[in-house]
Amino acid sequence: MSTQVCIIGAGPAGLLLGQLLHDIGIGTVILERASLDHVLSRVRAGVLEQGTVKLLTSAGVGGRLHAEGLVHEGFAITGDDDIHRIDLAHLTGGKWVTVYGQTEVTRDLVDRRADTGGVTHYEAESVELHEFDSDTPYVTCRIEGEEVRIDCRFIAGCDGFHGASRRSVPEDAIRTFEKVYPFGWLGILADVPPVSHELIYASHSRGFALCSMRSKIRSRYYIQCNAGDSIDAWSDTQFWTELRRRLPPEIAETMITGPSFEKSIAPLRSFVAEPMRFGNLFLVGDAAHIVPPTGAKGLNLAASDVHYLFEGLRGHFLERDNHLLDAYSARALDRVWKAVRFSWWMTTMLHRFPEQAPFEARILETELAYTLQSESAKMSLAENYVGLPY
Ligand code: APR
Ligand code: PHB
Repeated sequence: MSTQVCIIGAGPAGLLLGQLLHDIGIGTVILERASLDHVLSRVRAGVLEQGTVKLLTSAGVGGRLHAEGLVHEGFAITGDDDIHRIDLAHLTGGKWVTVYGQTEVTRDLVDRRADTGGVTHYEAESVELHEFDSDTPYVTCRIEGEEVRIDCRFIAGCDGFHGASRRSVPEDAIRTFEKVYPFGWLGILADVPPVSHELIYASHSRGFALCSMRSKIRSRYYIQCNAGDSIDAWSDTQFWTELRRRLPPEIAETMITGPSFEKSIAPLRSFVAEPMRFGNLFLVGDAAHIVPPTGAKGLNLAASDVHYLFEGLRGHFLERDNHLLDAYSARALDRVWKAVRFSWWMTTMLHRFPEQAPFEARILETELAYTLQSESAKMSLAENYVGLPY
């Protein structure tokens, strides 16, 4: 089997890149380790920057997004009993974000690829990348028990943090940067109306909490938990009780609770691999970087990586011009590091760190107090939250 671009991973990055390339006649094959059902069962963040919405729309998956996505022009930050609205539209001169679950983004991309005849092999086993430092790279794997070789011109490693692509790069050719946070996020989904029509980031003395949503009848809530916590230690009642204790009383008392139908704990880390290109292998999305979910940047960084790589591959295949392809890693990393910084800053400012020295604790409290009192600090927060330019 041969194709022009072999894409490893059918998450948002792989599916979006595959669709954009397919739509301009560049051949792709996507190899996905998991089953389609498993891919569609994943619950991830749900805040899309306008650049992400524009890119998804250009890939032909803007229909449901524009019909069902919720436009948000602001969000709240709360303390123990104070509430501060961050007016994104005012602070950014009219920009906003769209709340639309990543699960829906993935479903829309899966449907679009099927409708347009794109080839995706789910449950592809033992994917291995070969000779990507040559002009004739290839990928091997097992599909339905058969050994398969896919010759290609380029490989796009869209296989996430735990994928095979980054691991295929020789250790002396890659540099990684990592910070692991001493806490996690315990998240639930429940079919109850959200407590507010906008997101609420709670920086409470008991710990961080986040009130989000998937629709007007489906809520997504998180509380900061210990890094080693198990979901078995958290009943729904315990979750709701702790969540409400971390919100100002006037908000907590209006919260509608109910049974969770999804509950999970996510670790928080910041991670970047440099560079993002190795010969004719390109790392994209979570394969190259991870951010704590506080700033909702994971999916949006995958989108901007796809934008830069798509521009480069289009230049190569359609214009025989490699300058954007050669610039991919530098362009992507410039935006990645700014989002990694913002996600680290927002996480550090809003969470409570166990065993933190008193001086550092005061500095972080002051960081939040200054940010909420300063128009220019809020403008900086807002311009990063809605997404820096591509
Ligand atoms: N072979 C084939 N596929 C693989 C392999 C492998 N060896 N390893 C992982 N995969 C698949 C995973 O099953 C997953 O479907 O690659 C896909 C990677 O998707 P994501 O992890 O969602 O990464 P990405 O597409 O970059 O999207 C980033 O997803 O995880 C969230 O928070 C993250 O919002 C961000 C977004
Ligand atoms: C979510 O809705 O899952 C969500 C929203 C905002 C965040 C993180 C997660 O910062």
